[in-house]
Amino acid sequence: MGLISSTRMLEKARSEGYGIVAFNVHSLDMLYAVVEAADELKSPVILQTTVGSVKSLGADNIVTAAEKASNQFNVPVALHLDHCTDYSVLVKCIRAGYTSVMIDASMHPFEENVKRTNEVMAIAKHLDINVEAELGKVGGVEDDIVVSEDEAQKAVPAECVEFIERTDVPTLAPAIGTAHGIYKGDPDIDFDRIHAIAQLVNVPLVLHGGSAIPDEDVKRCISLGMAKMNVSTELKNAYSAAIRDHFIKTPEALDPRQYLSKAKQAAKDLVHSKILLVGCAGKADEIQENERKKSHLVVAN
Ligand code: 13P
Repeated sequence: MGLISSTRMLEKARSEGYGIVAFNVHSLDMLYAVVEAADELKSPVILQTTVGSVKSLGADNIVTAAEKASNQFNVPVALHLDHCTDYSVLVKCIRAGYTSVMIDASMHPFEENVKRTNEVMAIAKHLDINVEAELGKVGGVEDDIVVSEDEAQKAVPAECVEFIERTDVPTLAPAIGTAHGIYKGDPDIDFDRIHAIAQLVNVPLVLHGGSAIPDEDVKRCISLGMAKMNVSTELKNAYSAAIRDHFIKTPEALDPRQYLSKAKQAAKDLVHSKILLVGCAGKADEIQENERKKSHLVVAN
């Protein structure tokens, strides 16, 4: 059906108590691995790329591949730009056909975050695309964005309310103790804070730093109102480990199809496990049906 905005699928996920996974992809091969695996489980899925991947692959190439995969496989697919701090890159991706963008102004004071988010909302409200913003500061490393343990800050519930009122942003990523990249121990997730925020704002909440969170904690976050879970590190690890393993066993290997197919399968296995964990397997048909009804309404109007 082509790429769709993630707003409605995430609203539905939040109201029905399940999650949808957004996988960071770094190559066209990984992009196909994600959509194929989602199709095998009849699951909605969000493909996301960092600004670094937009620079290395090109926004148009990413959109063309994502669009093609979403038409080829029969599941709802959204394409999201992750952690963008640069307005011009964000506009470029929207023009190319991304159906969701994250304006990350979390490194700025609250007022500046509101202002920058509103600049993006001024465009987005005329288009059928999702916008995500971050409050507090998620720790760890994601592309060029590095937030140390000392700099990481949890979101303040009252600020989440004010932020939504002043920006109307349809999805919010509040920092609640998770981090990007690999954890030294188990993450220290502030479940009370998620509960407090979810009681006050009803937009779908986004769980950043979704890799290596114990399964029971992921389920608890979702039951409290987290509707989107971002996974990057574990997918990169699975993909790279398969290639590394291939070269350890056959150092002289030179046919990329041999090691890339193993990497793709490892990525698909990881995607399967995360989709099953958040409970969105089998939800594709209903979401597609809703999207079809909505596009008929638009045509009828
Ligand atoms: P991980 O590094 O834990 O996979 O987090 C990814 C993420 O939140 C991307 O925004």
